Amino acid sequence: MLISKNSRILQNFKENIKGPSPVDLLDRYILSHFYIRNSMYDSFPPCLSVSLQSSAKYLHKELPVRIAHRIKGFRSLPFIIGCNPTILQVHELYIRAYHMLIDFPAIKDQEMEARYSKLVQQLLDDHKDVVTMLAEGFRECRRHIQDETLVRNFLDTTLTSRLGIRMLATHHLALHEENPDFVGIICRRLSPKKIIEKWVDFARRLCEHQYGNSPRVRINGHVAARFPFIPLPLDYILPELLKNAMRATMESHLDTPYNVPDVVVTIANNDVDFVIRISDRGGGIPHRILEKVTDYHYSTAEESNQDPRMNNLFNTMTNSGPQSGPMHGFGFGLPTSRAYAEYLGGSLSIQSMQGIGTDVYLRLRHIDGKGESFRV
Ligand SMILES: Nc1ncnc2c1ncn2[C@@H]1O[C@H](COP(=O)(O)OP(=O)(O)O)[C@@H](O)[C@H]1O
Ligand SMILES: [Mg+2]
Repeated sequence: MLISKNSRILQNFKENIKGPSPVDLLDRYILSHFYIRNSMYDSFPPCLSVSLQSSAKYLHKELPVRIAHRIKGFRSLPFIIGCNPTILQVHELYIRAYHMLIDFPAIKDQEMEARYSKLVQQLLDDHKDVVTMLAEGFRECRRHIQDETLVRNFLDTTLTSRLGIRMLATHHLALHEENPDFVGIICRRLSPKKIIEKWVDFARRLCEHQYGNSPRVRINGHVAARFPFIPLPLDYILPELLKNAMRATMESHLDTPYNVPDVVVTIANNDVDFVIRISDRGGGIPHRILEKVTDYHYSTAEESNQDPRMNNLFNTMTNSGPQSGPMHGFGFGLPTSRAYAEYLGGSLSIQSMQGIGTDVYLRLRHIDGKGESFRV
């Protein structure tokens, strides 16, 4: 098993030796402090078991530090927020994770690496509902908070740091798998069109369930583009933006739900970054709320539920999907998407043409682009 893995890695190595290999990309652009090149390149011939151990050793050092910073964040919250039971529960999850990670003995062999990976997987599972819990917790104690920027700073930092930790952890686990298209979590030739299509299907299904119909989505621009990228953050952001565009479209055409304008997604790729623009004809975001839509917890979902034509469907709309969960209607879609995009060196900007529709521009840097790249 191991031998066959090794020979495949060797084969990949030989095939990729001419161009920048994804392993190289990892090392150069994302995890500059990461382990792979040393173990897989310098000590040629590469050995999967050794590289996995180096990867685990790296996480063994890095994860407790990152988690300790999060615990410090929870400790610095105003007393009244820190006492909220849901927030306290998350705080305790982090403390528990810290102890489990710090108590784990040094990784010296393959067996220890396997045990460590099991722990990492377990922690990923234990923490899967953290975003929802934080959304709930902060909503519960929001009336006690005078300082909006405090909430924003805490949630921006906690959520993006969580994304970074999950990317590192998932990357390590994914290195165990054999997939010629991937190195860890990096897809060698990611097609923006394909990943958009995947989330269009998802969002349309939710929308149909909710409103009885859904807008069609046209994708244009650089539809043939392919480049190395990490799908994970797109898997968080795209469904949120598409759901918003579809919801706006359906709710601005409640009298003609079977005849609604398409949503148009445009892909623009260049040396430095790539841009995904999602344009809807859902009436735009009214002037009076434009400033607020990227605030955590700002949502007009409740208002629309009061429209009798909605039949209170919107509540369930995003409760069924893996991504959206109960988060929908929490007003977390835009603020988290923006925080994730900025964390990855990109941006999320919103242009509203009040009376017509909205364009949302998601801009993300290439991991092998000419511009400065980002660190996880
Ligand atoms: N494409 C859009 N068109 C019109 N309004 C939008 C659009 N996207 C977002 N909004 C507004 O911004 C609010 C916040 O969006 P979001 O953060 O995704 O939270 P949620 O979808 O849970 O309400 C929405 O409730 C809606 O009022
Ligand atoms: Mg939303």
